Order: sequence, then structure tokens, then C-alpha cells
Amino acid sequence: MSRSFLVGFVGGLVLAVLIQAQDQSGFISIDCGAPADVSYTEAKTGINYTSDAKLINTGVSMSIESSLKNEYQRQVQTLRSFPEGKRNCYKINITRGSKYLIKATFLYGNYDGLNKVPQFDLLFGANRWGTVNINNGSLDLTKEIIHVPSLDYVQICLVNTGRGTPFISSIELRNLTNDIYVTESGSLKTYIRWDIGSDIGYRYKEDVYDRYWAYDNINEWTQLSASISADATNQNIYKPPAIVMSTAVTPANVSAPLVISWVPDDPTDQFYVYMYFMEIGVLATNQTREFTIVNNGIQWYSKFSPQRLSVNTLYSTSPSSGKEIIFSIEKTKISTQPPIINALEVYKAIDFPQSDTFKDDDDAITTIKSIYGVTRDWQGDPCAPVDYLWAGLNCSYIGKESPRITTLDLSSSGLSGKIDPSISNLGMLEKLDLSNNSFNGEIPDFLTQLRHLKILNLKKNNLSGTIPSALVERYNEGSLSLSVDQNPYLCETGQCNKNEKKKNSFVTPLVASVSGVFIVLLVVAAIFWTRNRIKSKGDAATIKILMKEKDKSQILPQVKEQDNSILHSKKQRYSYPDLLNITNNFNTIIGNGGFGTVYLGYIDDAPVAVKMLSPSSVHGYQQFQAEVKLLMRVHHKNLTSLVGYCNEGSNEGLIYEYMANGNLQEHLSGKRRKTKILSWEERLRIAVDAASGLEYLQNGCKPPIFHRDVKSTNILLSEHFQAKLSDFGLSKIFPTDGGTHVSTVIAGTPGYLDPEYYITSRLTEKSDVYSFGVVLLEIITSQPVIAKSQEKTHISQWVSSLIEKGDINAVVDSRLGGDFDKNSVWKAVEIATACVSLNPNRRPVISVIVTELKEALAMEFGRTKYSDAETSDSVKLVTINMNSEPFPMAR
Ligand SMILES: *[C@@H]1O[C@H](CO)[C@@H](O)[C@H](O)[C@H]1NC(C)=O
Ligand SMILES: *[C@@H]1O[C@H](CO)[C@@H](O)[C@H](O)[C@H]1NC(C)=O
Ligand SMILES: *[C@@H]1O[C@H](CO)[C@@H](O)[C@H](O)[C@H]1NC(C)=O
Ligand SMILES: *[C@@H]1O[C@H](CO)[C@@H](O)[C@H](O)[C@H]1NC(C)=O
Ligand SMILES: *[C@@H]1O[C@H](CO)[C@@H](O)[C@H](O)[C@H]1NC(C)=O
Ligand SMILES: *[C@@H]1O[C@H](CO)[C@@H](O)[C@H](O)[C@H]1NC(C)=O
Ligand SMILES: *[C@@H]1O[C@H](CO)[C@@H](O)[C@H](O)[C@H]1NC(C)=O
Ligand SMILES: *[C@@H]1O[C@H](CO)[C@@H](O)[C@H](O)[C@H]1NC(C)=O
Ligand SMILES: *[C@@H]1O[C@H](CO)[C@@H](O)[C@H](O)[C@H]1NC(C)=O
Repeated sequence: MSRSFLVGFVGGLVLAVLIQAQDQSGFISIDCGAPADVSYTEAKTGINYTSDAKLINTGVSMSIESSLKNEYQRQVQTLRSFPEGKRNCYKINITRGSKYLIKATFLYGNYDGLNKVPQFDLLFGANRWGTVNINNGSLDLTKEIIHVPSLDYVQICLVNTGRGTPFISSIELRNLTNDIYVTESGSLKTYIRWDIGSDIGYRYKEDVYDRYWAYDNINEWTQLSASISADATNQNIYKPPAIVMSTAVTPANVSAPLVISWVPDDPTDQFYVYMYFMEIGVLATNQTREFTIVNNGIQWYSKFSPQRLSVNTLYSTSPSSGKEIIFSIEKTKISTQPPIINALEVYKAIDFPQSDTFKDDDDAITTIKSIYGVTRDWQGDPCAPVDYLWAGLNCSYIGKESPRITTLDLSSSGLSGKIDPSISNLGMLEKLDLSNNSFNGEIPDFLTQLRHLKILNLKKNNLSGTIPSALVERYNEGSLSLSVDQNPYLCETGQCNKNEKKKNSFVTPLVASVSGVFIVLLVVAAIFWTRNRIKSKGDAATIKILMKEKDKSQILPQVKEQDNSILHSKKQRYSYPDLLNITNNFNTIIGNGGFGTVYLGYIDDAPVAVKMLSPSSVHGYQQFQAEVKLLMRVHHKNLTSLVGYCNEGSNEGLIYEYMANGNLQEHLSGKRRKTKILSWEERLRIAVDAASGLEYLQNGCKPPIFHRDVKSTNILLSEHFQAKLSDFGLSKIFPTDGGTHVSTVIAGTPGYLDPEYYITSRLTEKSDVYSFGVVLLEIITSQPVIAKSQEKTHISQWVSSLIEKGDINAVVDSRLGGDFDKNSVWKAVEIATACVSLNPNRRPVISVIVTELKEALAMEFGRTKYSDAETSDSVKLVTINMNSEPFPMAR
């Protein structure tokens, strides 16, 4: 069996490192049902809670039975119950793209005196989170997930399913670092968190992430304990509390294995397991503790010896599933000591596949709700889940795309006032019914902006003035059914006469005109995300232990990082004669840029590339200026650096570091002769580099910068195949004061251009993510971005159609000859398809892309380095430090 092992250690030595700031910044702690304006510090944990009153305006505050109160912390002593409405929701602001531990706690405590526990459903935004099924009303129940929200808020909704009144006691969100609890896909639901060998449970402050560690004792196990310092565990990015690591168990029968098993509700459930080990005993020199871990008969990790007083976290990057899941920790032949384990976490993968309603539609309908004080049960996501669609709406659901509102029916709702412009933001609206209300004023022109509108019913109101001629035209053409009768002051275009009370009698002929956009969306959406169905289950667990975070600073984009060249820091101004000198009278042409020619030159024997602006290029001049300005400001190892520039009248030139291996496109297309094709590992490194460059532009620069022309010809490769983004001529600096996008003239390269940006002219950070996704698809497939065939198929469609067939080998560049880790390729394909998602909200943020690509690289790295090392001792000695730079290039 071929398996890939990925090894390192989270953990490390007991160095006296001072990381004691266990502050609660990033914690959101809500006491549901507490009186408005109340905030307090809970005595036992020191966590600050605030009332939920500002987050919700429905429900009633209640308290649990007083006899139970002194058994529980204050935040669960009150609760909010929802006797009215089917769905009631909390909307909580968070930082999108950041990983959170999200907990909802329910303690019934006979608050209503009925002594009858209710059962109800919990939604997470547009998706089902689960059913709240309380066994014992005197005990608290917590639902917990680990999730990376893609919007600036999360919505937690309670749904009345007819089995009692929903309620909630507390909501807690804790931000985690994004590089822990990484899954192949989906989010995680807590299944087991166990401080093995302990007689007491812990949470914050012991646990910096406020995970609750439960306890339970097993007779067949012997408890061990030791006193260890907090420093020992702080080094590990999973940061298990020292007090949790200080207890452990071994089997009472020293030759028996330690067995941990459970029976899932559903054999297809996927579990991610995290085991924590620390040698807390003192072993004599002739003693060893070594064991092998077997999962359902398959060796999961072989010959492991926990290090003394340092935390080792062992986890698999791909999930386990089965009718029963059994982990058996067995001592090896040479081991004189029984196996040990200190703590365990098990999570179940949970998918939240339904997208939230399209943001603009959601904003528009929320405005309409507040302007007209709509009293209907409008809470949570307007369109999803489809079972809880807001009354009066209909939506379109196309694949995984965000639902769009297609119908708004506010008839007979007792509404008055003018027709609000926010209605015109419902861009896909097909049917608008405002009949039988008291709307007044004119029929606004903005209704003509609703291009898809087929039915407009305004009858029985008090509208006045004339009907916009564009609407009348559409009515006459037969593309709009328009009803305006019983508006006494309304008249037809051109016939308006104050005293005339004309009876309008437009009727309803309708020619269905299905828009082409719909069909395209449907095709594209249908072929995306079929991965779960066809995922290869073959490979066994890929096991991973990470070394302690050696050098945290290397994760972050570094502004001042030094490269291998002395040239970079200067950014000098050169004269034209200097340029002649440097390029030996423009002797060697090495490329032709969009607005000039690129020559080879030498400064102090170091090669450089000199780009000369062609004098005829007017457009080029602005780009030239933009590029100089930008490159003077930024410096990052994955951006081409400017060595200097020349600005003498019409002689304008930029001097860059020389990138010996040309651009990525040449390598992928095979245009570069005499070079071998890029291996999968090299490709992933290039992808990580390019993504890191983008991440620096977006997150490391203040204000952020949009590249706007990310493509494979703009990714240059150094002598050692380090990739750098180049060509900043189109880049835009994002305004710091403005909103979340800038409107610009459309610029970029066909095939790489974000379709959303193309349609709306709204440039967001997700536009570069789209282009990067296209590059990533090129890296994976080596296919042209737009096929040369007649259909001009886009690379994303080509890939999607193959993914649907489940054939990863057909997607990957065939020249690789299957020499890659399949899971690693899947992961890259998954990242790329997410990036080219038509809905920008579905595209991951760049920091997540970098992390995920590093994971993919680590999988491949594990394969190439350890493919034969399945049971070898050498495995545990190896450290992969994903953050160190550069990687050894030799294979
Ligand atoms: C918690 O609240 C107390 C006072 O109520 C305040 O002094 C303290 O700074 C707060 N802590 C945090 C981390 O917000
Ligand atoms: C949580 O958020 C706070 C405030 O934004 C930040 O200071 C802290 O570093 C974050 N913690 C983690 C683990 O990311
Ligand atoms: C959440 O964020 C939105 C938009 O930034 C803001 O309008 C709103 O007031 C915030 N809500 C709370 C409760 O802070
Ligand atoms: C509920 O839990 C409490 C506290 O553990 C226990 O005393 C009681 O017997 C339990 N009730 C039921 C019905 O199981
Ligand atoms: C101890 O475990 C070994 C191996 O599982 C088994 O053969 C032996 O019978 C056990 N001894 C006792 C006393 O249970
Ligand atoms: C280990 O060494 C000690 C003395 O140092 C001895 O008593 C013991 O029997 C040895 N144990 C083994 C398993 O060799
Ligand atoms: C929504 O669509 C369904 C089926 O197409 C239809 O039965 C229902 O009446 C529509 N609702 C509204 C409010 O138009
Ligand atoms: C018009 O709306 C009112 C409530 O605003 C309702 O009572 C009446 O039945 C409605 N008439 C029609 C014809 O729908
Ligand atoms: C209807 O609108 C007219 C002016 O356009 C106004 O004079 C009249 O009072 C309105 N009627 C009602 C019932 O609001």
C-alpha cells in the first residue's frame, strides 16, 4: 500500500518562553436573556459576558429554577426563549476568513415551570447545524463547531419544529489561528474532547482557546500525573493546557493495548482525530516507551516515542470513517513501558453547503424590511434554507451559488409611503407585487432597472403621476405584465390631466423571456463541487505531526526580507547613459512587455532586466508611473523587485532583478526548450510563492493593493524557481476610507478577468483571487486558459467537466506521468475551483489559499520524502518546517 507520511512535531523543548498573555481579545461572549446593558466578568473563568439585547429584538428573557442557580456559571442562569415566530435569529459580527470555535449552550433548568424539555432545530446561517435534543433539563448541552465564516457576520437561528418553545442560554465565539484543525473539506463539529486521566474538567483560563476538556475514567487504565509548566505546552500550536497534559493513562495490564473506539451514527461520518502525548514519567536509560497506533486494522503511525515534557500532537489530515472506529495504541517489541496517552480530541466533519443569499439582495430586502416595518416573520437568511424561505419571497437556487430573490410579494400588507429605491437593487427580481396597500407618490423610474421583471402588480394603491414610459413599452412589447388599476390619481404617459380619473386597465399578457445568463450559470454551477461524491477513499490516513512553531515571524509577509541580491534595497535613479552602459547599448532583447521592450543588462556583474517604455505608448506612461510608485513602496520576496529606474524626458525605463527562468507560462506550455517539465512539487511551490505575493499586497500593505493582472506570464521564476509576481502597471491601491470595493475602468486580461468585476466594474480583493484561481488551474493542467478550439472553452469549465467524471488523472498535466500525491492534487483542484467560483463570496480569502496550498505542498512533500519510510525509525526524526524558506530544491 502506498501511503504518505507527513511528519514533524508540534511541541518542543521546555524553553523558558514568555507567552503568558492569555487575553480575551477575539472572544465574543454573549449571555442570552441577561437584562439589556448588563456586562460582567464571570467569577470562575474571568470571561467577560455581555447581554444579547442588542443582537436580537424578539424573544423573552427568562431564568432557570433558583435551586439550580448555584450549580451553574452566571451566563447560563438566564436564557432567551422564543414563544413567537418559527425562526428567530442572532446576527453576530465577526472577522471573516478567520477560524472560530463557536459554541451555543442550552440549559433548560425548568425555566417555564412546565418540567418539559423542548426539542428544536438550530441553523447556522443558511444551513442546518443540528437538532437540540436535551436529555436532562438539569444539565447543560453545548453545540460546538469550528468554522471559518465567509461573511462579516454569522447568524445563529433557533427554529420551532412544533416540539416546544426554542430557547438559548449563551453564545460564545473564540478565534483560533487558521493553521490548526485544518480539514480536507468542510467544517468541524466537536465529538469528543477528553482530558484523559483527569478527575475534573477545564476551560478558559486553563485553555487559551476556551475549549472545554471533559473527563471520564476507565477502570482498565492506570492514571498518571506529574507537575508540568505551562511553557511546555505553549510551544505547540494546538496549545493544549498544561494541566490537561499533566495527566495521562497507561493500560492497567502493561502488555495490553490502549483502545479507544466509538460507533458513529452513520458509517459515512468522517472523523478527524487529534491525539496528545507527553512523556510525564522519568525513564531510566535502559527503559523505552515506544508504541504503534493502529486505526481499524491499518497502521496509522508506527514507532512513536513521546518526548519528555514536550507536547506531541498526532493527527491525520484525512478523516477516518467506518461502522466502528477503533484506535489501538500498542507497545512495540522493544518497548519496556506500556503505551501512554494524555488527551484526545475527535471532530466530525460537517458541511455547510448552502450559500447565503446574494449579498446585495440580502441588503436590499433587509432595508425594505426596516423601512416599511414589515411585521412578517422575516429573520435569518431570506432564501435559505429553502424550507424557511421568508414569506412573500421566492428565490432561485442554482447549484452552490448564492440564491437570488426572484419574487417579492408585499400585497395586502397595510404598507404606506413611497416605493423605496432599495427595491431596484433586487437585480434578479421577476415578480413584484405591491397591490392592495397604501403606497403613494409616483411610480418610480428605477423600477425600469429591473431587467428581469416580468410581473409588476401595483393595483389598489394611491399612486399618482404617470407610468414611466419604459414600463409601458415593455408592456406593449409583451415582456411585462403590468397591473395598475384602482390607483385613482394615476394616468397613462402623455395623457395626464389633473382632473381626469382614468381607469387604467393594463392586463397581463406575458411572453416568457428566459435570460441567457441563467442558462450559463446553471451549466457552470452544476458541474462544480461534485468532489464529495467521487472522492477517492483509497489512501489511508496521512499522518502529521508538526514541529513547534519555530519562527512565527516567518509566517507573516515580511517587508524587509533580504534576498540573495545586493541590489534590492537601493532603488536608485539612473541616467540614460547609465542605461546604455548597463544594457551594452540595448544589445540583448529578452522580452516584449505590454508597453515596451525588455533588455538584459548587468550592474556590478549581476544580471538585471531593463524595461524601456516605448515613447509612442500613452497608456503605457500612466502604467509606468503607477508601477514605479508602487514598487518604491513595497518589498517582498515574492514580488519582483525594482533595482532602479530612469526618468529622463522621453527615456523612461525600469530596472528589475533578472529572473533567470522566465515566466511560468513558458514552462507550463513547454515553450521553453531544454528545460525539464516542472514537477508537481515545484508547481505547488510556485503556487505558494505567487499566493504569498498576493497575500502581501492584500494584507501586508496598508492600504491594500490590487494587482489586477494576475496571470501566468506575470509570474516570473528565479534561477532557483522561486516565483515572483511582476508587472504592477495596472495595480490599484485600495482606498482606506471607502467601502469594500472600488469602481474602476475594467482592465485585465481575457480569461483571467473576474466575471463579477467585468459585469459590475466593482473591484474587490476577490477579483485577484479569481485570476489566481485561473493560474492555479493552469499550473495543475498546463492547458491554455481559453481553448483554441471553436467553442473557446474556458479552463474552469474544462476542469469542472472532468472533475464531474471523477478523473483526477485527466485533469492533471499528463506529462507528470502520475508522479504526484493524489490528495495533494485534489486539494489544489479544490482550491482552484473555489477561487474561480462565480460568486465572489464563495472564493476563499488569500490567507486561506496560502495555508491550504501549503497543506497541499506538505502532502506532496510527505510522499516524495517518505514514500518508503512507512515503518522506518527515521520518520519521527524529520521536521518539516513549512515556514522556512527556501525549500531545498533537490529531489
Ligand atoms: C472585563 O471586564 C472588566 C470590568 O468589567 C474590565 O476591567 C476588563 O478589562 C475586561 N476584560 C477584557 C479582556 O475585556
Ligand atoms: C484573536 O483576535 C484578537 C483580536 O483581533 C487577536 O489579537 C488575537 O491574536 C487573535 N487570536 C488568534 C489565536 O488568532
Ligand atoms: C455589525 O456590523 C455592521 C456593519 O459593519 C454594523 O452596521 C452593525 O452596527 C454591527 N452590529 C453590531 C451589533 O455591532
Ligand atoms: C438529570 O441530571 C441530574 C444531575 O446529574 C440527576 O440528578 C438527575 O437524576 C438526572 N435526571 C434524569 C431524568 O436523568
Ligand atoms: C494482559 O494483556 C495480554 C495481551 O492483551 C493478554 O494476553 C493477557 O491475558 C492480559 N492479562 C490479564 C491478566 O488480563
Ligand atoms: C534496568 O536497570 C536497572 C538498574 O539500573 C535494573 O534493576 C533493571 O532490571 C533493568 N531493567 C531492564 C528491563 O533491563
Ligand atoms: C413561489 O414559487 C412557488 C412554486 O414556483 C409558488 O407555488 C409560490 O406561490 C411562489 N410564492 C410566491 C410568494 O410567489
Ligand atoms: C386588502 O388588504 C386588506 C388588509 O390590508 C385585507 O383585509 C383585504 O382582504 C385585502 N383585499 C384583497 C382583495 O386582497
Ligand atoms: C391619495 O393621494 C392624493 C394625492 O395624490 C391625496 O390627496 C389623498 O389624500 C391620498 N389618499 C389617501 C387615502 O391616502
